[in-house]
Amino acid sequence: MGLFNRQVKKKTESGNGKDNGNAPNGHDTNGHDVPPAPEKAEGGAELFDVKTSETMGDRAGNLLREKSPHAIKALMPWLDKARSGPEGRAEFIDKTKEVAWVQADNTVRAISAGMGIADTRAFFRGDPPIEKPNPRYKVHVNAFFAHLRPKYYEKASTKFSHTFALGYLSIYMFMLETITGVILMVFYTPSDRRAYEDIVKIMSSIPYGQLMRDLHRVGAELMVLIVVLHMTRVFLTGSFKPPARGFTWLTGVVLLILTFALSFSGYLLPWDQLAYWAVTIGTSMAKSVPPKEIVGYFSNLIMRGGDTINQNGLLRFYLMHVFALPAITLVLISVHYYRVARSHGISLPAAEEEDPDPAVRKAAKERIDYLPELFTRELLWAAITTFLVVVYSAFVFHAPLQEHSNPLHTPLHTTAPWYFLWIQGLLKDAFVLPAIRALDQTIISAVKFIGVQMPPGSTILVPFYDSPAWMGVIIPTMIIPALFLGVPYINEWWEKFWGSKPSRQLLKNRKGTVVVAVISTIFMLVIWYQGTPFYGVTAPPAVEIGQAFLPEEGVLPPVPLVPDDWGPIRRLGYENLPDGEYDLAEYAVPKTTYTEFERILSAIQQEIMRRGQLWETGDHEHGLPEPTGVFTIEQWQPNGLKRIELQINWTKTTPSDTGEFKRVIYLQQDARYQ
Ligand code: HEM
Repeated sequence: MGLFNRQVKKKTESGNGKDNGNAPNGHDTNGHDVPPAPEKAEGGAELFDVKTSETMGDRAGNLLREKSPHAIKALMPWLDKARSGPEGRAEFIDKTKEVAWVQADNTVRAISAGMGIADTRAFFRGDPPIEKPNPRYKVHVNAFFAHLRPKYYEKASTKFSHTFALGYLSIYMFMLETITGVILMVFYTPSDRRAYEDIVKIMSSIPYGQLMRDLHRVGAELMVLIVVLHMTRVFLTGSFKPPARGFTWLTGVVLLILTFALSFSGYLLPWDQLAYWAVTIGTSMAKSVPPKEIVGYFSNLIMRGGDTINQNGLLRFYLMHVFALPAITLVLISVHYYRVARSHGISLPAAEEEDPDPAVRKAAKERIDYLPELFTRELLWAAITTFLVVVYSAFVFHAPLQEHSNPLHTPLHTTAPWYFLWIQGLLKDAFVLPAIRALDQTIISAVKFIGVQMPPGSTILVPFYDSPAWMGVIIPTMIIPALFLGVPYINEWWEKFWGSKPSRQLLKNRKGTVVVAVISTIFMLVIWYQGTPFYGVTAPPAVEIGQAFLPEEGVLPPVPLVPDDWGPIRRLGYENLPDGEYDLAEYAVPKTTYTEFERILSAIQQEIMRRGQLWETGDHEHGLPEPTGVFTIEQWQPNGLKRIELQINWTKTTPSDTGEFKRVIYLQQDARYQ
């Protein structure tokens, strides 16, 4: 009670809570006027005195005046007037509207980081700014995300046909991956015992889990595609050329490598056969880095965490995928975009920048504000892309999931992910080894010609040629620095050397560039094709027939974003597969009256007969002697499981030949294969 009394007393005596002891002479220690202190009451009765000096109403009014927000304080004098009659009331209402408007305007300015109500309205209507100086520029200073963007662009650089918004879409995909990735992370454990089970759970029992996984997969494939296309457009429009764009290109190349690394590190996480073997193939390329015994051995060990991929490898890939690589990519994107936004802007289309007519050049450089023109355009792009990606993930493409990883069983025709197929193609070595062999033969013939005798089958150059090292590591890592990192610098040097006028127009004085680009694209396409299972890989003929109609696992097409193929039998579905034993020879002649199932049986028989003909024409690698086939479907469990068997027999040609091949699959009633 004593404390309470003292506090109230202080407040009322000094008016500012400070008892300065000078109140009786009307000045505080600083010489300021202070109200006269009330006379001291008997000990302990000060509170009582204060209460009696003002009415409750006055005290409440004073307190309200003192503590109210600014807007209410501003209305106080008009409140008094409002009591005086209808005129005062009308004035009070007008003043209230005025104060409320100012208040709302200030709030909108705070939220929009600079624009008032009128300007926000004009902004959304697409009208020019109302105030001067342009409050939309203020937003670029005040707001974090807006400050990352330039205030305006040069008009011609924003043409869709110049950039195809590919840089913007690359950032969009990175954000999509971050959001969907964080959601997936919540339900995923990076453990070799839990990972596969968690993915199955995400797909089957987490609400929208399947969609999140599909979106993440579609986004990853699109990001690789879009970044490559963005680089191609920058190259074709000559936008890597000076001034200042060389370093931007350089940061871009690092981003390209990071994009591959992000996608590849995510590949392992489902821990299914596809993941396990694709990553085993990918990491085995590192084994060949020369000198193999040191660098190759250790880089493979560091990546896999052991001789083969196991729990250590999974954890390493997981941490790279969710932490290290996204963090580095974010930093690099910031540097890359900072250069575009602050250092040099987006290049102008070369034809307009180099146009002899000054009017065209001037029009190209006309300013176009980011807010609202480009901002609304970007929103539209985000909406369209989100719609397309969601529809594609929901109805067309589902991220593949095969059987649980099995280190003891390599699936047939397994490959690296599609964006590394070109390296796999190089590893198959269709060019260099044959060329070295031919050179070897020429040298040996020359040596023989001068009289030196060499034992038959001798080689000179071939033993020095370490194929996996050259093909899997040296050539790809030479292509990256030479073709990519060096592009702006080689180009600058080249132009200086020839003293040519640097032009960015593709068909003007960049004809050499076009030739190099076309040749490298054709070369890349050829080696990429060689990396697919269609080139240079054949299983025994009967196995190939089984794989075509009843593949062991879904076969991932070598092009991105196409659903994996589970073969015609699984696609036909449980209900359309009648139980029975079918002698395929009875379906040798295709008939229009066949059901879908019979048509497939007939197609299998055609393939068996084709293999028989190949044998007869002497192609013993792809043909089979007198092959026959039987197809059997039986109910394996009464509650909806069928056993499906394709058996192919042929005449034995060697003692080790079994003369028989069987492919068995089990099909569950609820399984749906597209
Ligand atoms: C994650 C990957 C990447 C992101 C997020 C990204 C983002 C962007 C953005 C937003 C722009 C503005 C212009 C536009 O939209 O086209 C841009 C421009 C540019 N990018 Fe990238 N980029 C990436 C990868 C690359 C790569 C791989 C290269 C080349 C090797 C590259 C080189 C450039 C250059 C030179 C510019 C300036 C272009 C001009 O002035 O017209 N970027 N980038």
